[in-house]
Amino acid sequence: MSADLNRRDVLAGTIALGALGRIETAGAQPSAPASAQQQASRSMTSYIGSPTSRVDGRAKVTGQAKYAGEFNVSGLAYGSVVGSTITKGRIARIDAGEALKVRGVLGVLTHESRPRMADDDKAYHDDAAPEAGAPFRPLYDDRIKFNGQPVAVVLAEEWETARYAATLVRVEYKPEGHVTDLHAVQDKAFIVKKPEHPRGDAAKALAAAAVRHEAEYFIPIEHHNPMELFASTVVWSGDGKLTVYDKTQGVQNVHRYLCGVFGMKPDDIKVMSPFMGGGFGSGLRPQYQVVLAALGALSLKRPVRLVLTRAQMYGVGYRPATIERLALGAKANGELNAITHEAIAVTSQYEEFSRNDTAWSGTLYKTPHARYTHKLARLDLPTSGDMRAPGAATGVYALESAMDELAIALKLDPVELRLRSYSDRDQNENLPFTSKNLRECYRQGAEAFGWSKRSAEPRSMRDGNDLVGWGMATGVWEALQMPASARIVLTANGHVEVATAASDIGTGTYTIMAQVTADMMGLPIDNMAVKLGDSTLPPCPLEGGSWIAASVSHAIVGAAEEVRSELLRLAKAMPGTPFANAGVGDIVLTDGKIVRKGDAARSVSIADAMRHGKVERIERQKDHTFADISKYARNTHSAVFVEVKIDEELGVIRVTRAVSAVAAGRILNPKTAGNQIAGSVVGGIGMALHEETLIDHAFGRIMNANIAEYHVPVHADVHDIQVIFVDEPDSIINPLGMKGVGEIGIVGVAAAVANAVYHATGKRVRDLPITLDKLQRQS
Ligand code: MOS
Repeated sequence: MSADLNRRDVLAGTIALGALGRIETAGAQPSAPASAQQQASRSMTSYIGSPTSRVDGRAKVTGQAKYAGEFNVSGLAYGSVVGSTITKGRIARIDAGEALKVRGVLGVLTHESRPRMADDDKAYHDDAAPEAGAPFRPLYDDRIKFNGQPVAVVLAEEWETARYAATLVRVEYKPEGHVTDLHAVQDKAFIVKKPEHPRGDAAKALAAAAVRHEAEYFIPIEHHNPMELFASTVVWSGDGKLTVYDKTQGVQNVHRYLCGVFGMKPDDIKVMSPFMGGGFGSGLRPQYQVVLAALGALSLKRPVRLVLTRAQMYGVGYRPATIERLALGAKANGELNAITHEAIAVTSQYEEFSRNDTAWSGTLYKTPHARYTHKLARLDLPTSGDMRAPGAATGVYALESAMDELAIALKLDPVELRLRSYSDRDQNENLPFTSKNLRECYRQGAEAFGWSKRSAEPRSMRDGNDLVGWGMATGVWEALQMPASARIVLTANGHVEVATAASDIGTGTYTIMAQVTADMMGLPIDNMAVKLGDSTLPPCPLEGGSWIAASVSHAIVGAAEEVRSELLRLAKAMPGTPFANAGVGDIVLTDGKIVRKGDAARSVSIADAMRHGKVERIERQKDHTFADISKYARNTHSAVFVEVKIDEELGVIRVTRAVSAVAAGRILNPKTAGNQIAGSVVGGIGMALHEETLIDHAFGRIMNANIAEYHVPVHADVHDIQVIFVDEPDSIINPLGMKGVGEIGIVGVAAAVANAVYHATGKRVRDLPITLDKLQRQS
């Protein structure tokens, strides 16, 4: 392990996170043998691995960071959406007469009066659209597919005028019967084919199991509820071109989508999203407000802004309600022998959205016999979508709750049960992992939590009036990486601009891009300027799946190598050059110098080399693709330990402590990564105890479409969260040995909380969220 990468001294610190309590990050960074890492480790100031504060932090807290709904241009008009009050059927008539009489109203768009839009499904198919089905077309025709569906947009000089006039639009419908209750249609669910290989004979093995646990778990619909509302400011500039400021996790996705929907040429639309106030997956697909704002701008021939209301935020994607049926069979010694996992998840009538809910057990545990079934049930709702570790947050909640119940049946410690079936191979694919240090997550997590002091018996631990419960669970997520491009521009004064069309959805992309570039160029981080969130920048995939950090970092490594190569060419042309026979692999950039590896005395300053070659700037762009590692499984893992305190008479549950020990390869920035994990743990607490979208099935309408009645954890619900990153050297996955973090932080948390609640009370609640009425209910 190289000494300057093993920055335990820096990493083992306490980081304040405002009122959220404290986050500790601990752990050392492993080294990998690749040249990218050598370049990074050679530098005196290695930014990679250091807990660098957000480079965009100041802009955010001072209000300089502008969000999609904040870009002001002269002549801006405002749109307000009229939503359907029925759930299924047709629009019979729209009367906008009263709305149009309001002073300041500029027009009312409906499916009858809107500008032209594409009429083929392909045009509406964005990068995150499900493969099967026909994407929703906003304001397209008279068909109503879900309650709250946009049926008209009122355009006005002022936002308040638009909102008021929107209440005056009269819509008559021809309603049809609808269904919005998953339990009512579960028998009509159909199987989705997944690449999960059944093994052995699970039914037979279950029947023969020494100890068996079978149960059904339920996760309700949840909504993302990011702080920033979906918003688009579409600037129509007179030449027929559009500049679109949009809240999105993928500017180029929205760009392609809008070009398709409006039949416009790529050069005629530019999409910008410099900052995003939270996404959690809700911004992976283009949302309907960007279409409506563009329709408004095209029809008025002036700039239009459209911001959804908080209530309207519940009319876009959501985490699908899912029924999870688990059966686990164990041998008397506690080893798992069989598992069956069936999931039934919600999708819409018009698209088939699904993620891997069921096969996580095969990734985590040795099970010779396994069968997985994923089903979808169609409801008259918008298409469900990605939300915070989609598939894993739900499927692993069920799996890890079931594992806890099995441990109790076996009278085994829950950690010990998991270790008995610990797997060094992905059982589904029968592949080794690029790296897997989950064992160390269990060990360090348990130690930091004090797990050994747990008394196994439910209701056996108390603190005054509170029952105390300790629970744990395993987390798993994918370590994904995607092709991406980056451009680096180095100027002779030592300043660097690095650019890619990524979004920073609040995760810290600006910061890690600056860190990696600074290390690769051997220049101070303050000299870095990061450009992202602009569809005209080098190609970059959606910001999702926790894949952006690895994807973008390696694109930067690639572009930096090209710049280094050009610098070497310039340095070689200098009189008395110390690099006569050197190749690009023989040099590193450090402290503003080009240095021969292993011989710091042989160096040339970057500025001198550029001046001598009369080169003012070096610009290089690199399309990066990762080496084929399909012979390996790639995953991040975690062990989550949770303490709950439950007022015995009132049933109020508090998560007083949480320890999340994460194995995710080399951590680029323990501060932003620690923030990601802590935030995800909060999301998991919400999932366990608070979050639930309630639908009145008679009307098909969401009853709690607001953040007063859709509960999320607030500061008072969040106490001690400790994040640990364990060592996980990985020389296979990519040159920097890194895996993305973010989503791994939520997986397992809801189960750990549910398991702690059981330990505290002796009561097992299998349908989330665990509310006090369910705790008090006689089962
Ligand atoms: Mo994430 S649910 O891929 O934004």
